Amino acid sequence: MGAGEHDGGSAVFDRGRLRARAQRAARPSRGRAALVDPRRIGLDDARELRRLPARGPDAEAGRDRRNAARALRARRRGRQGAGVQQRPDAGARARLPARPRGQHGRLRHRAQGEPRRPRTAVRLSGPRRRELPTAYAGHAGGRPAAGRLETRDPDEVATPGKDVLVHSELAPAPGSTTIDVALKIWRYDAETGEKELKRYEVEAPDWVTLLDVLDLIKDKQDGTLAYRKSCRMMICGSCGMRMDGAAVLACKTRMYDIAKSGHVPVISPMGNLPVRKDLVVDMDPFWSKIRAMKPWLDPGYEEPAEKERIVSQQQMNVIHKEALCIMCGCCVSECNSMESDPEFFGPAALAKGMRFVGDARDQADVARLNDYNAEHGIWDCTRCYFCNERCPKGVDPRDAIAKLGAESIKQGVDHDMGAKHAKWFVTSAKTTGWLRETELVPKTQGVVSAIKQTKFALGLARRGKVPPPVPPHVAARVDESRKLYNLVKEQGRDGALGIVQGEHALGRIEFAEQAGVKTSDPEVRPGVEPPHAEG
Ligand code: SF4
Ligand code: SF4
Ligand code: FES
Repeated sequence: MGAGEHDGGSAVFDRGRLRARAQRAARPSRGRAALVDPRRIGLDDARELRRLPARGPDAEAGRDRRNAARALRARRRGRQGAGVQQRPDAGARARLPARPRGQHGRLRHRAQGEPRRPRTAVRLSGPRRRELPTAYAGHAGGRPAAGRLETRDPDEVATPGKDVLVHSELAPAPGSTTIDVALKIWRYDAETGEKELKRYEVEAPDWVTLLDVLDLIKDKQDGTLAYRKSCRMMICGSCGMRMDGAAVLACKTRMYDIAKSGHVPVISPMGNLPVRKDLVVDMDPFWSKIRAMKPWLDPGYEEPAEKERIVSQQQMNVIHKEALCIMCGCCVSECNSMESDPEFFGPAALAKGMRFVGDARDQADVARLNDYNAEHGIWDCTRCYFCNERCPKGVDPRDAIAKLGAESIKQGVDHDMGAKHAKWFVTSAKTTGWLRETELVPKTQGVVSAIKQTKFALGLARRGKVPPPVPPHVAARVDESRKLYNLVKEQGRDGALGIVQGEHALGRIEFAEQAGVKTSDPEVRPGVEPPHAEG
């Protein structure tokens, strides 16, 4: 007897309404996939799953839905596999180690049936392994940091006690000679503000660099000495500091000649950056200026082009030097303009800017030039050339700034007073062969400013410091300067490319001189490759 036979009419009505409500709830909402199988939702699910008769007037047995549920699981698994799994099932290959898997597994390159070769050796051979300890034995300053240094404050320059001294492996190789090296190092504690010039003396192999000597001092004499280093081979740019007041890379500076001369150099932190401790400076101002240059390529499109873009060697030559920068900050340390104006972009950042302005793939050069021509930009450089002199990688940041200036004028970005000044130099040289200084102020700063400075200008004229404006002084061979101007224009040598070509021409002349060819020889002409050195 079915249970429904004893139900009254109102009870049947209520169950019907409940069933309809349950079916409505199970219906998927429009536009979104159902999260659960609607066929498995209902008031009588539990009864049907147990294959009991449904409660109701029909008194029918529940439908077996196991097949439908299985079909649903299979379909969902298949769709997810196609959408999510990017690779075929690894299968038996998964049991092999990663490297031989490609050679012996299902993704092998050989045809089916080709005989297998022995697996590639993952380890070094015995003889090769024996070479390694010899090659690394006694390498400079091999301080075993991990496990030997005590864990201290998380601060990157925290070396609070002598108990961090560790054993040094910087030992002279058998048969090598040693030198006695003395240094005076400016010690500085930012917390107390105490400053002290301390002298250190160490015995070291004759090939040591300044960085090796600092390692020896830190390892053997004073573990609290703080300085930065990483690569030890002039790549990372970490170890910039001053020796006798001039910025150097410590890992590039050999100590042999200095020690032999008896000189005791003074080591101090880099200039123009706040000192954190001893020889460690805060590089945040440096990096914020680099970021302000937008140091990334802007190719001018969102989607990559269908064909790759080939950049010629000549185009890459324009930024060859700028691309060598390792961000050591040595140029910033010595920049005179930054000393008087800490907001000046500085040589490193502007060299980075030129690296992108000169890149043939970048399409934002005019926008960049406008940024670099702003206040504290390229025209605030005093042209002292200290940055060129101190750069350890030959980037020549001052030359990069000159290229930015030339490119700005070529592209018509000449609103800054510095650009107007440079343009008047060219105009004056072209028209008279001389610099007409009396016209420089009105042409650069404007007539109002010139009138305000009349008294000063008359004083200069009285003392013979400036020539009278009339009649204009014209050079006897002014036609030569005009020819030069026209040649540059005709050959398109204005802008950054002209400066690069000038650098290369100078390089060729120097090369010819070294090869014993006089630069007055007819072979050495502009644009003509001089004869190369013999042998
Ligand atoms: S040449 Fe210019 S950028 Fe270079 S150090 Fe001198 S002022 Fe600074
Ligand atoms: S331009 Fe030279 S000195 Fe300046 S950060 Fe780059 S590598 Fe260092
Ligand atoms: S340690 Fe990397 S440049 Fe000197």
